Amino acid sequence: MRFIDTHLHLYDEAFDSDRDEAIMRMRRAGVEKCILPAIDRSSFERQSSLAEAHKGFMWQAIGLHPTSVNENWKAELQFVKDELDRHRADYVAIGEIGLDGYWSKDFMEEQKRVFREQLLLAKEHSLPVIIHLREATEELFEVLDSPGVAPFRGVFHAFSGSAESYRRLKKYGDIKFGIGGVVTYKNAGVAVSLKSMQLEDLLLETDAPWLTPVPFRGKRNESAYLVNIAQKIAELKDTDAGRVAQVTSENAEKLFGI
Ligand code: NI
Repeated sequence: MRFIDTHLHLYDEAFDSDRDEAIMRMRRAGVEKCILPAIDRSSFERQSSLAEAHKGFMWQAIGLHPTSVNENWKAELQFVKDELDRHRADYVAIGEIGLDGYWSKDFMEEQKRVFREQLLLAKEHSLPVIIHLREATEELFEVLDSPGVAPFRGVFHAFSGSAESYRRLKKYGDIKFGIGGVVTYKNAGVAVSLKSMQLEDLLLETDAPWLTPVPFRGKRNESAYLVNIAQKIAELKDTDAGRVAQVTSENAEKLFGI
């Protein structure tokens, strides 16, 4: 089986003690390619030097994460724009971008503005987007329905919505849905939604070091566990893990051009 981890924060400090070993384990597990989504300037150097050292295996996105939208948002957004102007060829997506009302709603107006600007930026640079959404559904549709945004290409990362929101979101363009460890959790809503979702719309992701799948829940997550996610999806979709791995890999290659 071959896999693509479309969402992995391998530059995070959680991997400082065994990053090379984690890379070996992911390669051994069949992970052929992966994508490092950005957060903000504070993690930029670590991310880009890691991607640089693993060309042909790691690709990176650039963007401002919604939980990093604060007083500094203008400078942070300018950094994303400048980086794209200078090094467009280094990136396969803009992300993660989006809205997060879970950690704080203090900067929700700014989050909406930054999200919208980055959606437009992605169009300008012909790049797909990686969208993070948490507890801001109403605001999400406000932005997506604003002038110039739809249609767009991208993935709703860590998708946890209903079958109805899946159908609704698909109408906004070439839209994929990132499925990770959450699908293995007991009573996960997305496990129910998956039954009416098409394999052609899915991407596999770990979001490591977070969202560890069963049976490793409680430990740090890593890409080698993608196989557990694929197995769970296969079970829910009444197919085999090999097909899940193959179709989702092709979806990722098409969306990100990797
Ligand atoms: Ni993430």
